[in-house]
Amino acid sequence: MSTESVPAPAAPVYSNKNPFHARHLVNLMLTGSGSEKDTRHHEISLEGSGIKYSAGDALGLQPTNCPDLVQELIVALHATGEELVPGRDGTLKPLRTALFGDYAITFTEKKFVEAAAEKGIQKLKDLLQPERSEDLKKYLSAQNECRDYVDILREFPELHFAPEEFVKYLRKMPPRLYSIASSLLAHPDSVHLTVAAVRFTAHGRIRKGVASTFMAERWTGDTTAGIFLQSQQKHFFLPSDGNTPIIMVGPGTGVAPFRAFIEERQALGHKGANWLIFGEQRRAQDFFYEEQFTKLANDGFLRLDTAFSRDQAEKIYVQHRLEQNASDIWKWLEEGAEFFVCGDKTRMAADVDNALHRIVETQGGKTPDEAKEYVAAMKKAKRYKRDVY
Ligand SMILES: Cc1cc2nc3c(=O)[nH]c(=O)nc-3n(C[C@H](O)[C@H](O)[C@H](O)COP(=O)(O)OP(=O)(O)OC[C@H]3O[C@@H](n4cnc5c(N)ncnc54)[C@H](O)[C@@H]3O)c2cc1C
Ligand SMILES: NC(=O)c1ccc[n+]([C@@H]2O[C@H](COP(=O)([O-])OP(=O)(O)OC[C@H]3O[C@@H](n4cnc5c(N)ncnc54)[C@H](OP(=O)(O)O)[C@@H]3O)[C@@H](O)[C@H]2O)c1
Repeated sequence: MSTESVPAPAAPVYSNKNPFHARHLVNLMLTGSGSEKDTRHHEISLEGSGIKYSAGDALGLQPTNCPDLVQELIVALHATGEELVPGRDGTLKPLRTALFGDYAITFTEKKFVEAAAEKGIQKLKDLLQPERSEDLKKYLSAQNECRDYVDILREFPELHFAPEEFVKYLRKMPPRLYSIASSLLAHPDSVHLTVAAVRFTAHGRIRKGVASTFMAERWTGDTTAGIFLQSQQKHFFLPSDGNTPIIMVGPGTGVAPFRAFIEERQALGHKGANWLIFGEQRRAQDFFYEEQFTKLANDGFLRLDTAFSRDQAEKIYVQHRLEQNASDIWKWLEEGAEFFVCGDKTRMAADVDNALHRIVETQGGKTPDEAKEYVAAMKKAKRYKRDVY
């Protein structure tokens, strides 16, 4: 008999095609009563998965649709839900099951509008004229006026789609990505997320972001959901040298990966200085992870600055805190600090980038072109890293 030990089987590599079916463990409100937001801390079990993530990585999640919306759609289609239709992998299953998990149903695909126009709906035919592309875009996706399939089927009751025909126009349900908010060293069998639930009203009906409300409302008990790891180590990773200082700019849910960074450096005993600049609307309701971060600040492990935008008449954002602390930011950068940004891509990330350029200009005594070169060199050296969405 061989005495050589048998190598342990490699952990399966989970992906969107082959996800791990995980259970949800903890669902905690991070926003208090009176907040305009519903942002939550979620903990998801990795037990039995062998999934190993690094600080900076993201988690892919395969959500399911809200059963109430599925029911509304079945009614709007004049169906029962029992009709057999092809699911996303082509196998036949009841319409209700396919609408629940296989397809995106919270907005409308253009090819459905084209099919409805072909069935004789003049208003939709007109909207499809090339010169009206902006009107079509607004009709389908304007802020608080977007339309899902239920809206259109109700607007034109003369429309009839057989279930099997209807599902042909649907897009497969895409997975959603979330920045991981925990360190595996601190939480060996779970992954934490910081998620803002998307909810708004359009055409008199409450609309729910699929994945964020799946997590907030429907991923409970024994329900499992497909998850997979999305490595981000090529563009968003901690410095390997634990003595390197880091500056982390993370307003809103953008704070998520920085909780992971902080926990990781704490677990590893890294001595490099940590500076977190967090922003949200109001201190009393929206200070995510206040206890954890404040304790670390009191212990001297973390420099913590906050920008609560709505606690005073004039908005204060994270970039204002950067500029107010410009000389320290410059000092940290000159001492080799890495600069991280996470959160809103369209507004915040651009404003923070401008602030960084201004700080380099004013504190470093550089021209605008020299400041651009300085920041570009930081990026090239992977000392300026962003994860924005
Ligand atoms: C790398 C990465 C990391 C991310 N990390 C996080 C994270 O840590 N935390 C987090 O909360 N999110 C994060 N996101 C965003 C996340 O992936 C989802 O996009 C988000 O949770 C919304 O998904 P949903 O399924 O709930 O909403 P969806 O069903 O996808 O609905 C969102 C859609 O609704 C639209 N919409 C929203 N409000 C309105 C309105 N008033 N009128 C009309 N349309 C509207 C939006 O434009 C958007 O297209 C991350 C994204 C990426 C790419
Ligand atoms: N793809 C999606 O469907 C989806 C879903 C959820 C979130 N997101 C993205 O994730 C981002 C994060 O959302 P969130 O709810 O966690 O937080 P957020 O909307 O980014 O808000 C966090 C803080 O940033 C402030 N802020 C607003 N504009 C800013 C700017 N130009 N510069 C700096 N700070 C600014 C906000 O202030 P005020 O509110 O007082 O202005 C608030 O205090 C969203 O903005 C969005 O881009 C996308």
